[in-house]
Amino acid sequence: MASTTQIEARSVGKKFGKFHALRDISLEIAEGEFLSLLGPSGSGKTTFLTLLGGYEDVTSGALLLEGQDMTGWSANQRGFGMVFQGYALFPHLTVAENIAFPLKVQKRGKAQIADRVAQMIDMVGLSGHENKRPRALSGGQQQRVALARALAYEPTVLLLDEPFSALDKNLRGQMQEELRRLHRDLGTTFVFVTHDQEEALALSSRVAIFNHGEMQQLGTPEEVYERPANRFTAEFLGDINILSLDPAAGGIAGTRLDLPPNADAFRHVAIRPEHMRLAEEGDGNQLPARVCDSVYLGSKSRLLLETRAGEELMLYLDNGTGVPTPAPGTDLSIAWDTGDSFAL
Ligand SMILES: Nc1ncnc2c1ncn2[C@@H]1O[C@H](COP(=O)(O)OP(=O)(O)O)[C@@H](O)[C@H]1O
Ligand SMILES: [Mg+2]
Repeated sequence: MASTTQIEARSVGKKFGKFHALRDISLEIAEGEFLSLLGPSGSGKTTFLTLLGGYEDVTSGALLLEGQDMTGWSANQRGFGMVFQGYALFPHLTVAENIAFPLKVQKRGKAQIADRVAQMIDMVGLSGHENKRPRALSGGQQQRVALARALAYEPTVLLLDEPFSALDKNLRGQMQEELRRLHRDLGTTFVFVTHDQEEALALSSRVAIFNHGEMQQLGTPEEVYERPANRFTAEFLGDINILSLDPAAGGIAGTRLDLPPNADAFRHVAIRPEHMRLAEEGDGNQLPARVCDSVYLGSKSRLLLETRAGEELMLYLDNGTGVPTPAPGTDLSIAWDTGDSFAL
């Protein structure tokens, strides 16, 4: 990475009693980056975020901030902003008072606080709502107040724990857009926890994938989606066809095929559905399959097929092309480019 490392985790582990919530997490977070921690529920994302923020102590390993060991520092000494799951606003304070709260704790001057609060309210689009209490606001508005409060004292790092999980789908999309804009405008480092694959891919400069307290992979959205390091990551990030290698045939299900490099060392070949198509004459890699079912989805149809070895696979057909969707029972061949497949 060309950019400067701001935070570094070195072999960080966390135990609760005998339970290993995190094992051997090492990663570097660059200044100004948008890093997502992505994984299923219970994979250790929140635990890692609370270790970064200084709300819990690490059991082993070290955390560094700009090269300095911050492992023993309190949350206050680190001074990162935090937006929790749910809104965690003070119910008896108004919007303006909620946002002013961390600034008052820091004993900033009255005029300065008033200026900053006005600026934050404008930034998150809540002008006119200054004097309302949280319960008079919608979920999206409450989450904007939480964001404004966390950003009010200009932290160098903002930690966000599934901030949009309580919002409905449309509002979620809108808040994601706003978060991207805020990140672009502020240049603050964002570390964002989510269990939503699309959210992580859409927002992040890099994604760290967690499962069972271990980091499975760290990379750009494209790297982790197109070149997953293992089966967990491949399946967690979206639909994928995983077909057993047939060593005798040098291919799959009795058919010789061009396999990805180093396939010999693995047992499966994986191809995302969007990289598969119905074979046309001249296609090099052709695998015979029978259509089991098709599902009309509007702009596309999802085709479910079975190989001669009885393995299921899926592909999408673009409904804009005018090519009719093959009926269940049809025997045909599917094709893909070897470069779009990888061994697992
Ligand atoms: N304070 C705690 N005491 C005991 N176990 C905990 C505590 N916090 C988290 N855990 C356990 O650690 C694991 C990871 O939890 P968490 O980091 O909250 O997962 P995630 O945020 O990925 O859903 C879970 O099995 C959870 O039950
Ligand atoms: Mg969590």
